[in-house]
Amino acid sequence: MTDPTLAQTGLVVRREPVLIIGALSDIGRALARVYGREGYPLLLAARRVERLTSDIQDLTLRFGVPVGAVELDILDLAGQGAFLDALGCLPGTVICVVGLLGCQPEAEKSWIQTDLILRTNYVAPACLLGEIANRMQARGSGCVIGISSVAGDRGRASNYLYGSAKAGFTAFLSGLRNRLSRHGVKVMTIKPGFIDTRMTRGMTLPPFLTAQPAEVAEAIWKAQAHGRDVVYLRPVWRLIMLIIRLIPEVLFKKLEI
Ligand SMILES: NC(=O)c1ccc[n+]([C@@H]2O[C@H](COP(=O)([O-])OP(=O)(O)OC[C@H]3O[C@@H](n4cnc5c(N)ncnc54)[C@H](OP(=O)(O)O)[C@@H]3O)[C@@H](O)[C@H]2O)c1
Repeated sequence: MTDPTLAQTGLVVRREPVLIIGALSDIGRALARVYGREGYPLLLAARRVERLTSDIQDLTLRFGVPVGAVELDILDLAGQGAFLDALGCLPGTVICVVGLLGCQPEAEKSWIQTDLILRTNYVAPACLLGEIANRMQARGSGCVIGISSVAGDRGRASNYLYGSAKAGFTAFLSGLRNRLSRHGVKVMTIKPGFIDTRMTRGMTLPPFLTAQPAEVAEAIWKAQAHGRDVVYLRPVWRLIMLIIRLIPEVLFKKLEI
């Protein structure tokens, strides 16, 4: 079984812990390996926490860092305060990896699926990170990292439900950064293009534009070390999305993208 708090691991905590929300995702797992390698105690949050057991054993053995696990369904907004209290400490860094691509054609016909996509990608992460940020502000330090998406840079017919939720999340992170920059709390927005993960399994993705989870995790770690605000992964996506944003609406609405 996994212990919910780092204090119960018995290992000495020298650095402020990193909380990874959505720790069972391919990117979450890659992030745990990078931050563990760098010596950070880890707190892993996932809705099926029992599936983290082998990851925890591996991370502890490999890097000798304390690793705790806490159950979280991010959609349970009323339970978010209790979740944070159960961590036993306020982490130094919090990375929110939670996301849901969903099926756009089906969601167009179903308010239930639309609601799920919007709440999973925007409302629930914004509520949780907002509360974490308030606690970090009171402490006067911390770093909040949100995984958004280039899909939020412009709504496209093929995935505007996911994209609009990510647009909301991106704007939320931007405002939070603006609010907290004077209070010792750093907020970083990650905007990946394509990543080779469970979310994109079965899709044909161009290799040049597709990052691997380990590459994404390394880039996030380096971006945090360099104090970056907004990071496109791979960097070429910044140019691609600039071009896409510049296409006049009169032309854009005729494109099938
Ligand atoms: N893959 C890409 O091409 C790509 C591109 C741009 C942005 N992103 C973003 O990158 C992040 C990671 O995605 P990924 O590609 O690694 O896909 P993924 O493996 O599907 O990761 C999504 C994670 O969100 C978790 N999650 C979903 N609903 C949740 C809920 N209600 N409560 C708690 N956790 C929940 C999932 O938990 P379970 O493990 O329990 O299912 C899963 O671990 C997402 O925010 C995604 O939008 C991905």
